[in-house]
Amino acid sequence: MNPVPYHPAEPGALLLDGKVALITGAASGQGQAAATLFAAHGARLAVIDINDAGAAETVRDIEARGGEAVAVHADVSLRADIDRMVATTVERFGRIDVLYNNAAVQMSGRLVECTEDEWDLTIATNLSAIFWACRAAVPHMLATGGGSIINTASTLGLIGSEGFAAYGAAKAGLVMLTKQLAVELGPSVRANVIAPGSIDTPRFRKVLDENPDRDGFMKMLLGNLPLKRLGTAADIAAVALFLASDLSAYTSGAVVPVDGGLAALR
Ligand SMILES: NC(=O)c1ccc[n+]([C@@H]2O[C@H](COP(=O)([O-])OP(=O)(O)OC[C@H]3O[C@@H](n4cnc5c(N)ncnc54)[C@H](O)[C@@H]3O)[C@@H](O)[C@H]2O)c1
Repeated sequence: MNPVPYHPAEPGALLLDGKVALITGAASGQGQAAATLFAAHGARLAVIDINDAGAAETVRDIEARGGEAVAVHADVSLRADIDRMVATTVERFGRIDVLYNNAAVQMSGRLVECTEDEWDLTIATNLSAIFWACRAAVPHMLATGGGSIINTASTLGLIGSEGFAAYGAAKAGLVMLTKQLAVELGPSVRANVIAPGSIDTPRFRKVLDENPDRDGFMKMLLGNLPLKRLGTAADIAAVALFLASDLSAYTSGAVVPVDGGLAALR
């Protein structure tokens, strides 16, 4: 069961000491930032990705700072890979305390442009993958006394936006899946969802660089935004650390926008 109550840690205390965290999409961006931050707070890490070079870089970075991590190649759109990533993590570390479902694909496209393959891949990677990862990992969490699930949705799963029919639907489904998990798995396992806004990661840079009106796009994004800047992977990792750790022992089923205030405008 999750500990109650939380006793404020000593300054400098490690928030994830002794815990094991599995993070999908940990070769880049938000997942990579969270992996290194979690490791700095004492967690042992399973670094999951299809990008082997990026995953190896994450592991090297963690090991260089004295941490422990293993890279596992897994495509989360495939259920067999999901089962294998969970099994490999448990074989290596003996437990899973934190399951952070961060990997996703983003294919923008209006309804009439979205192909069957794009729809299927988006739902498989951004929604079904999280269902099956929880299905595989939760029995291990329960066997060792509980844990924390963190899912990554998006502002686009909370509000409608032109050109994101499949992506928005998958992310909105993930918000409700997380609430279901919170209801069903308490008190042993907590489940929360982060809804990032515009976060300056390699994925975001690619979208920005492909935009012919880059300056206009940025102006549109930041114009009314209360915090007037893009988010960083570190901004997301900090919230993920809170949700992973006992600091959030009484938080479950929460949807946490990390978006510079964007959701407050709607
Ligand atoms: N960057 C943003 O502005 C933004 C905004 C809202 C939500 N998000 C969400 O944040 C999460 C992280 O995005 P990011 O910006 O860090 O992107 P990123 O592209 O930097 O990192 C995503 C990682 O996921 C991996 N990945 C993709 N498909 C995979 C698969 N099938 N199996 C395993 N790994 C896979 C990629 O290889 C990559 O390493 C995603 O869920 C994304 O939808 C991002």
